[in-house]
Amino acid sequence: MNTQELIATAKALVAGDKGLLALDESNPTCDERFAKLGIPQTQEMRRAYRELIVTTPSLGEAISGAILYDETIRQRKLDGMPLVKVILNAGIIPGIKVDLGEEDLAAHPGEKITEGLDGLRGRLGEYAHLGARFAKWRATIIVGSGRPSRACIEANAHALARYAAECQEAGLVPVVEPEVLMDGEHTLERCGAVTQEVLETLFSQLFTQGVLLEGMILKPNMVLPGLLCPSQEPVDVVADATVNCLLRSVPAAVPGIAFLSGGQSGELASARLNAMNTRFKSRMPWALAFSFGRAIQEPALTIWRGEQANVPAAQRALHHRATCNQAARRGDYHAAMERI
Ligand code: 13P
Repeated sequence: MNTQELIATAKALVAGDKGLLALDESNPTCDERFAKLGIPQTQEMRRAYRELIVTTPSLGEAISGAILYDETIRQRKLDGMPLVKVILNAGIIPGIKVDLGEEDLAAHPGEKITEGLDGLRGRLGEYAHLGARFAKWRATIIVGSGRPSRACIEANAHALARYAAECQEAGLVPVVEPEVLMDGEHTLERCGAVTQEVLETLFSQLFTQGVLLEGMILKPNMVLPGLLCPSQEPVDVVADATVNCLLRSVPAAVPGIAFLSGGQSGELASARLNAMNTRFKSRMPWALAFSFGRAIQEPALTIWRGEQANVPAAQRALHHRATCNQAARRGDYHAAMERI
């Protein structure tokens, strides 16, 4: 493991006011989103869509790293240039999703465990060879009656820590993603309590497995009420609950925290990140950034609809969301930015 290189990459991913763009949807997830818009669900359409994203003009001004999927990291632009090269030319660091998705957790109905540790060392070596400098693994924690169980939290934290240690061994920065899902009726307080328990367990496991905290990025959920909760707190309340939870549970040695968006609208995700960076400006030991998928991509995908003629407008929409989140990192985002 080259410690200095890991630390340098981790710092670069959250440097300045940039953040990460997740375009690592698995084929079934990507196809599902295409199907909703009537876009053909083919390998060529997925390739064309990812080409649209990574060729967005000036994307590298707001985006530090791009998370790819196994199919995407091997794909090329129509003119033959590998997408990884396009990303590097834009000044963006290529990364890769390395988990293999989730399965039912035995003996715990309704809960999930993320799979993918078998053969991981070999896959990491191949991805590093293909140009990846960091890797992501997502664990999902479902909140409900009697959920999450300790079994679910501990099993997922253990897997995340084992994956993170293997990444660092391979010279890749782990982007460690424990996601407490927004689905359900739970309150913001409950999400906060669950998120804190998950993060405490996770960092205990990361310590046990020997993960270098300075060479990783944490990718958590924001502390939010469930989508079906009648009480939807304002932006400042979400910001305070989220950062206070993180201050209690994330060691200062971690260089950066980059949120997932998890199904929030693009505008809300930007406004909440902005409020956190405004209200806690000089009180956070880590950079507070973004690693959004849907909250950056959604308008662009809706505009594109699989039509070549819509590519420039879709790219403008993608660039706009990236720029809004860049402003949110500085605490400079405001709703008027959305009137374009
Ligand atoms: P969302 O921002 O759409 O939640 O995606 C982020 C991600 O990488 C999920 O694993």
